[in-house]
Amino acid sequence: MAGVWRCMLAVAVLMCVCLWGSTEAVGGAKSRPRPQKRPPKKPKVDPIDLTPAAQNIDIQQMTGIWYLINTASQCSYLMTHGTKVEPTLMNLTLSSASDQTLYVSTKTRHNHHCWEILQVYDLTPTSGKLTLKGTRPELNTEIAIGETDYNSYAIMYYQKMGKITMKLYVRSVDNLSEPMLTKFEQLAEKQGLGLAYLFPFPNYSHCGNVDKDHVINCVPTC
Ligand SMILES: *[C@@H]1O[C@H](CO)[C@@H](O)[C@H](O)[C@H]1NC(C)=O
Ligand SMILES: *[C@@H]1O[C@H](CO)[C@@H](O)[C@H](O)[C@H]1NC(C)=O
Ligand SMILES: *[C@@H]1O[C@H](CO)[C@@H](O)[C@H](O)[C@H]1NC(C)=O
Repeated sequence: MAGVWRCMLAVAVLMCVCLWGSTEAVGGAKSRPRPQKRPPKKPKVDPIDLTPAAQNIDIQQMTGIWYLINTASQCSYLMTHGTKVEPTLMNLTLSSASDQTLYVSTKTRHNHHCWEILQVYDLTPTSGKLTLKGTRPELNTEIAIGETDYNSYAIMYYQKMGKITMKLYVRSVDNLSEPMLTKFEQLAEKQGLGLAYLFPFPNYSHCGNVDKDHVINCVPTC
């Protein structure tokens, strides 16, 4: 069924979740040099500590375009497709200042097409923490905005079924700062996500307009 297939595509391209458990790392993207390829240590994480609320987040200042530039994940999808990551960006909007819902439009390429995936993240009483509802409560994704300066970078944590994925978003791909990339690597390492678990994304060829046939609506859920 087309609907089911679209949802699977949404899950696959969003890559913020690990549906299939973790497997051995078979390789990551190769766009940044890495010191040594050591076999990855089994990450030890305490799910409760996973998503630090580092600062008071002004969600209004988070709105707008963010380019995904790096992901740290144990997802087997990324492990096997890590070298084929596609340029990805998201557009965050609030419909009003008092809105408790963040609208998330993600655009990415798949089979040479641009796709747009629409989602909502619910704000929680805790600043910088949001929830992406799953089809069942245990499938919810808890999201934390770990660190951001609003106008150059944001480090996001996604936690689903006890597994964590981290993403580094930037406002502009023209000038990626080395200290920022290093900081992301260090924070990922703290979660047990060493270099073998990092998946840099292309900083060019992002999608513009997406035709209606390639919009996947994951509101309220997928
Ligand atoms: C981001 O989304 C808002 C609300 O849908 C829209 O008005 C705006 O044009 C979008 N920005 C881009 C660059 O697509
Ligand atoms: C992409 O990032 C690389 C490395 O930071 C940089 O040299 C290059 O100019 C960037 N590309 C674009 C289109 O900004
Ligand atoms: C890139 O950032 C560095 C350090 O912030 C700055 O010195 C340089 O002028 C920037 N380059 C461009 C093309 O914006």
